[in-house]
Amino acid sequence: TRNGIDFAVADLGLAEYGRKEIRLAEHEMPGLMALRREYADVKPLKGARIAGSLHMTTQTAVLIETLTDLGAEVRWASCNIFSTQDHAAAAAVVGPYGTPEKPQGVPIFAWKGETLEEYWWCTEQILTWPNEPANMILDDGGDATLLVHKGTEFEKAGVVPPGEEDDPDEYKVVLGRLRASLAADASKWTKIGESILGVTEETTTGVNRLYQLAAQGELLFPAINVNDSVTKSKFDNKYGIRHSLIDGINRATDVMMGGKVAVVCGYGDVGKGSADSLVGQGARVIVTEIDPINALQAQMDGYEVAVLDNVIEKADVVITTTGNKDVVTFEHMKRMKHQAIVGNVGHFDNEIEMMALERSKEIKHVNIKPQVDEFIFPDGHSILVLSEGRLLNLGNATGHPSFVMSNSFSNQVIAQIELYGKNEEYDKEVYMLPKALDEKVAKVHVEALGGELTKLTKDQAEYIGVDVEGPYKPEHYRY
Ligand code: NAI
Repeated sequence: TRNGIDFAVADLGLAEYGRKEIRLAEHEMPGLMALRREYADVKPLKGARIAGSLHMTTQTAVLIETLTDLGAEVRWASCNIFSTQDHAAAAAVVGPYGTPEKPQGVPIFAWKGETLEEYWWCTEQILTWPNEPANMILDDGGDATLLVHKGTEFEKAGVVPPGEEDDPDEYKVVLGRLRASLAADASKWTKIGESILGVTEETTTGVNRLYQLAAQGELLFPAINVNDSVTKSKFDNKYGIRHSLIDGINRATDVMMGGKVAVVCGYGDVGKGSADSLVGQGARVIVTEIDPINALQAQMDGYEVAVLDNVIEKADVVITTTGNKDVVTFEHMKRMKHQAIVGNVGHFDNEIEMMALERSKEIKHVNIKPQVDEFIFPDGHSILVLSEGRLLNLGNATGHPSFVMSNSFSNQVIAQIELYGKNEEYDKEVYMLPKALDEKVAKVHVEALGGELTKLTKDQAEYIGVDVEGPYKPEHYRY
């Protein structure tokens, strides 16, 4: 704690560098800056106590300062052990007007290279407020939401289950934390759950978790699915990864992608951006899919569609983007080329059978540098795994660039305002933002890029059955 702010970051001395990058990012985030201007006087988030769990990057610092500008208090952690940019975390603690000696920003609990224990400690810190509990969650992947739900569930049962031997290490850590908290305060998470008015969720995987909770009738509070705003998933997931995937591979390995065979597993939004990113460098891209519609899209875009099992031997690079588990198995990695690269940009590391790789006694592990590891098999061939199978675009590089995140985060801010301000209108279900707001976010960014929108005449609007001011598409339109 310094100047009344509790925090845990790598080094507050990095704040000045962080602040310079934040200043540059603000110019590239016109959506967030427009929201600051629009709500400067109203302060629609006054009274909101937001627990934020989202990659603690420079772009996120601009999001945090937009939320506080609009009246909110926040506590923040990263949603991944490798994704924090330490200078951005430091600058967010110090704030625009503070100094490292006298910080005036917000409590941040995040540093690059956390252990799993530290990660879940940080997540607990953002939900544990000094006075009244948090009343909003801003989540990316659903870990903060998971902690509140699991904590409440175990408190109701009066016991934390022992867990299974083959549970991921990560889940064992969660069970351990919740066991300790149950012993200390048998209603801690129930109280937090009751205080939370809602959650706004950033990503596909987190949104999937929310729909599953809602279907089982177990969702404790309303949720807004930010991911499926068109200006989020059709931009961040696709064009964001087009930028940051190759950035991560290059910074990690500096291996030339031109001419190489790259397999992209999954051809959803992230898969499409990934294939684009690799083909842009001249790689020969093969796609794997389970869904015939996405598979056909890949073929129309010029990619071979194959089963991983049939192409693994010729792959120089394999990138998973499915949001599913066990996509690249231990058996696959055994059969790969010498020094083939394996990486994941889906939300969790279980897309790659990392546990089998790390727990195997016959495999030699050589750390090349942070977030780049070589695993040597008994036959002498090795593979390079990036970011221990976690989001490599954030672990090995700095994630998506500001301009695309301005779209995503504008939706986040709008969703927070909506759910906090009109809470009584929402049930314990998952909602989407209205199309008019999606179009509003897009418009700011079109104009920032110097684009000119064609104006409908009244006659034309009537002819296609829309309002001159929009929304311009029916709900069923797919973009
Ligand atoms: P999506 O649902 O659009 O795409 C996933 C695709 O994978 C689907 O087309 C699905 O049919 C396919 N798939 C599922 N299981 C498969 C399997 N076993 N083999 C081959 N294909 C399979 O989801 P989206 O939006 O592309 O997100 C994918 C993941 O990336 C999620 O975990 C999401 O949270 C994460 N994400 C990561 C970002 C990053 O910066 N790295 C940014 C945005 C999302």
